[in-house]
Amino acid sequence: MPISIDGNLFSLSTQDTLYQMQVDEYGILNHLWYGPKTGMSMSYLNQYPEISFSGSLADTGTRRDYSLNDRPLEYAEGGMTDYRTPALRIVHPDGSSALDLRYAGYEVLNHKPGIAHLPASFDRSLQTPTLKITLKDALYPIFVHLYYNAFEKENVIARSVEIENNTDHILSLDKFSSLCLDLPDGDLEVLHFHGRHAMERLKERLPLGFGTFRFESRRGNSSHQHNPAVILAAPHTDESHGACYGACLLYSGCYQVEVQKDQLEQIRLVMGLEESTFHWKLKPQATFHSPEALLSYSNQGFEKLSHQFHDMFREHVIRSTFVHRPRPVLINNWEATYFDFNGQKLIEIADSAKECGIDLFVLDDGWFGNRNSDTESLGDWHVNEEKLGMPLADLSKAIHDRQMQFGLWIEPEMVSEDSDLFRTHPEWVLWIPGRYPSRSRHQLVLDLGNPEVVEYLYQTFSKLIRENSVDYIKWDMNRSISDFYSSYLPEQRQGELAHRYMLGVYELADRLTTEFPEVLFEGCAGGGGRFDGGMLYYFPQYWCSDNTDAHCRTQIQYGTSFFYPISSVGSHVSAVPNHQTGRVTSLKTRGTVAMAGTFGYELDLTLLSPEQREEVRQQVQTYKTLQPLIFDGDYYRLSDPFDHDLAAWSFVSKDGLQILVQSVIYEQKPNVRFPRIQLRGLKRDVWYKQLDTGNVYTGAALMDGGLLLDLPQGTDSSQTLQFVRMDQEETSE
Ligand code: DGJ
Repeated sequence: MPISIDGNLFSLSTQDTLYQMQVDEYGILNHLWYGPKTGMSMSYLNQYPEISFSGSLADTGTRRDYSLNDRPLEYAEGGMTDYRTPALRIVHPDGSSALDLRYAGYEVLNHKPGIAHLPASFDRSLQTPTLKITLKDALYPIFVHLYYNAFEKENVIARSVEIENNTDHILSLDKFSSLCLDLPDGDLEVLHFHGRHAMERLKERLPLGFGTFRFESRRGNSSHQHNPAVILAAPHTDESHGACYGACLLYSGCYQVEVQKDQLEQIRLVMGLEESTFHWKLKPQATFHSPEALLSYSNQGFEKLSHQFHDMFREHVIRSTFVHRPRPVLINNWEATYFDFNGQKLIEIADSAKECGIDLFVLDDGWFGNRNSDTESLGDWHVNEEKLGMPLADLSKAIHDRQMQFGLWIEPEMVSEDSDLFRTHPEWVLWIPGRYPSRSRHQLVLDLGNPEVVEYLYQTFSKLIRENSVDYIKWDMNRSISDFYSSYLPEQRQGELAHRYMLGVYELADRLTTEFPEVLFEGCAGGGGRFDGGMLYYFPQYWCSDNTDAHCRTQIQYGTSFFYPISSVGSHVSAVPNHQTGRVTSLKTRGTVAMAGTFGYELDLTLLSPEQREEVRQQVQTYKTLQPLIFDGDYYRLSDPFDHDLAAWSFVSKDGLQILVQSVIYEQKPNVRFPRIQLRGLKRDVWYKQLDTGNVYTGAALMDGGLLLDLPQGTDSSQTLQFVRMDQEETSE
């Protein structure tokens, strides 16, 4: 049973892990354990001697060995002798802000409900029960409900928190976290994924010192700069050994992650809404529900942790019907033409793509209003017929007539000052009274905290999709948000805007994806500026980065793979010299790298030589054969491209029968040995056959000895190798 309750002991079990909490004699909910299964209560570890300068709750009497400041707390409220990072903060009408949360009861629901207005994990089979533990403030009727689900097969615990105000006054909720996790071992390192535009999700690994390590986004989106996910790992943990915890928010707006090492060398992880951009007025009888967070634990290194998150996303987070369906290979005109195109040019690109076996033509930015540069027309979502030379529906028909699908770029959340929408509705823009709003990429931000704006956008884009038989939408978002002020909200509710904006984005995404389940949606925020679990709930794929340089992409895709499944990673082959870095890499290498994701092209195929077009045709064919293995297999990072010039990864089908190994080498040096990579995820005493050579190897040989790769040639070299397991019976060595 994933949930078991024994008196005051609550246990959540997955296939390999145990998560345990206990209510103590004062009604405090203690966190006892998160880690491997132990088969018993871990309460014997929860003992503390007297620690000086640790205060005690009044009802502990003269006891000096009990303090909230030392104990592992399940949801730390702060203000009552716990001096560590609190998970929530509210301000009462009398100006005080302490909460004294005591256990008030529990409930087990036989299914997992969604969270109203927010993305959340789900179980289609309705087999996952929910544990709801309620805490109540000792003084006021303020309730905090902690929700837990144990996804057994995926070894994932889903958590969210709801606060309920049953007082008769308005509370100011100034911090609210989705999870708080107290871990007894301080000897952990933190891995996080930082970056910048066109260089997202770069892995950094740091030892944790005393104090708090914190990262966040205040940009209104989860951001290029820090992904809302973190790993805490024992020192020396590597891909296949060692203990690590992963935590990931299903949220796309302002968030924060705090990892604190306290005086007793214990760790507290707190993850939730970013506190400087979140001030919520909680009315009497109202509730507020946090975004959901996912937790997972592995004692077999990072790759098992990643497999668990990948499985979780594929089975229980990405709700699109496309999640396990073959996805079309696409051609996108952005880097081929930028704003400079007409209908004829687009059809030429589509024709050349069709010849290469490409399925979907995507018309990117520049098709609407008077949009010939990024300075104008966002908001005017009617086609520029003069530029296109035809109505949009005719272009869509021309593409469909070629037996291809038709896709369209949109940027719903933004508006240009030079647009009819802005001229008609300046009050729909985030705009602080008395100040002119800041621009970024010449654009202003629409107030998606205003339901009227969301309704307008829904009407506009549903009509656009319907009237033009659109099969695919690329939903872009090209600036960070600033100037948080909504003319729709009263003064005292302005602090709610950052979160309300996200609720508006989610509502629009929910309505459009629900109305058009057969339209494939790809998210984008100047590349991967909002690549997070919240957006993946609605969109099965996300443009990983505006940087399509194959070299940089191996690093970006490597970092992305720690949490997010490969089937969600938008990756394309683009032209050389690369538009972001000027680097020239071979078509083969660009294809190899882009195949580790949702494959496509972003260049003018008409400019390629016949030989190159033939190579593209073969890449498309290869990818289509491999896509099921790439999308549904287990992904292995075989090298760290931050440490080596060699990037290598592999996919092993869930049944273990098929293996795909891909590698890229960028650096050439004279007089070197053949590069070698060791595979993982194979059966040691089973024989595997390499498909191109017919060579056979035992799994042990491939994993311990490894494979020799070709010597690098030219600017770079890459290989795609396939193996099959020769029989399903294990033979003894
Ligand atoms: C940013 C995206 O990431 C690009 O792929 C492209 O769609 C441009 N926006 C268009 O403005």
